[in-house]
Amino acid sequence: MAASELAPDWLAYPGDVNALRPAEWAAGVDRARDGELTVQGLPVTALAKEFGTPLFVLDEDDFRARARGFKEAFDEAFAPLCGGVDVYYAGKAFLSIEVARWVTEEGLRLDTCSGGELAVARRAGVPPRNLGLHGNNKSVAEIEAALELGIGRIVVDSLDELGRVAAVAARLGRTAPVMLRLTPGVHAHTHEFIATAHEDQKFGLSLAAGAADDAAAGEGAPAGGAGGAGTGADGSAPPSWGPFDASPAAAAVARALADPALELLGVHCHIGSQIFEAEGFNLAAERLIGFLAAVRAHHGVELGELDLGGGYGIAYTAEDAPRPPAELAASMADVVRAATARHGLAVPRISIEPGRAIAGPSTFTLYEAGVRKTVTVDTDSGTARRRYVSVDGGMSDNARPVLYDADYTAVLASRVTDAEPIISRVVGKHCESGDIVVRNVYLPEDVAAGDLLAVPATGAYCWALSSNYNYLGRPAVVAVRGGAARTIIRRETEDDLLARDMGA
Ligand code: LLP
Repeated sequence: MAASELAPDWLAYPGDVNALRPAEWAAGVDRARDGELTVQGLPVTALAKEFGTPLFVLDEDDFRARARGFKEAFDEAFAPLCGGVDVYYAGKAFLSIEVARWVTEEGLRLDTCSGGELAVARRAGVPPRNLGLHGNNKSVAEIEAALELGIGRIVVDSLDELGRVAAVAARLGRTAPVMLRLTPGVHAHTHEFIATAHEDQKFGLSLAAGAADDAAAGEGAPAGGAGGAGTGADGSAPPSWGPFDASPAAAAVARALADPALELLGVHCHIGSQIFEAEGFNLAAERLIGFLAAVRAHHGVELGELDLGGGYGIAYTAEDAPRPPAELAASMADVVRAATARHGLAVPRISIEPGRAIAGPSTFTLYEAGVRKTVTVDTDSGTARRRYVSVDGGMSDNARPVLYDADYTAVLASRVTDAEPIISRVVGKHCESGDIVVRNVYLPEDVAAGDLLAVPATGAYCWALSSNYNYLGRPAVVAVRGGAARTIIRRETEDDLLARDMGA
């Protein structure tokens, strides 16, 4: 057989259909001598038997190593500049009480984005000063909970919210430590729904003059452009920078500095997610440092903290080539060094917020294959066959293909085979034709009901986005450490599914 016309350009016909590409798998994953997939030596058939399928299998050592790896790489690159970096693990990627403890043990802090995530952190005993709270519409109750806990920072997203935080802090007789989330006008190369620093989306305070109706009017006295020239990461023109005090970002700084209930720590940006090029991160850093210089010129204050967000891409398929944290850190440190020197600023304390790059590759999803079907499809040169393999989960445990057109790969996990590869689509069991787990993958022709399939890189935004669609219970998550597996989140039962239904 040969390559299928139905395969996308990036998908090569496999030389060995049983091979694992290391970039896609946790470090502890391998094939045993008999060919079965193992994690830290544990065969997947044993895991499926003990814990059932679908199952999230998380290599805890891999997760911890990636967390530590970010901390060490960024500390090393920034040590000469500002002593080190605070790495906030973005809990939205995947959070449980154990995970909150692991990141704390590995020297990271924790970024939460709701009262629920904050509750997990609290239950895990994360020191409150190590916590951040994000979100574009935090409720009064969430702000209260954060302040009463003694949270390290609240990242404020809008002028409205700044007022809300100040009012709650004043009422509680506390000072709220705040960062301001700014949108530096960088449009990162990623899916539209996960790009977050361009102008026309809901997050953050714009650096552009007159960007919003509630920005303070610039009463003359321009203090220099906020971010300097340059183009967006996609080559588009930057927003037009106006007088410093005409942007929502500048208005927020003025309000925060003037309000005794607020302690303004610094500024923050997050340009998007699943990003590979350093340019977008670097451009955002330059613009924010330009903004810090304008703040100093205008207010005589040097803000001490700069958070450059998360967004580092990972390998889902052969198409993706992530860069190691050390490279990202070195290039970011160069930009921070040069930009602060150019403006004569002391280097602020830097923080970053990786989520996917820590959790994503640590985990694979184990499914049991069920029914198959093969279709014949018209192509430019005739017809081609495509195999559909249905598994026992689907869009309820991995919504990313449906939401973002995300690509994944899969392997036959319970055995190896000499069968020919056939272009296949792994689909779920939901009542939707769009319920696709892996859109394009060469699987062995002989994959059959009862085989186990493993889909790698499902540690971020899969369990976190999971649902009970069609009344499927959410899968368990098992963590493997020291060659032993234990449940960290149990599978939902039928009783769980019915527990909140108030019918008789
Ligand atoms: N910081 C902030 C303020 C964020 O909003 C996010 C992600 C992160 C950090 C972490 O980004 P990461 O390093 O994980 O890329 N559900 C989408 C991704 C949404 C990202 C939301 N914010 C997906 O599955 O691709």
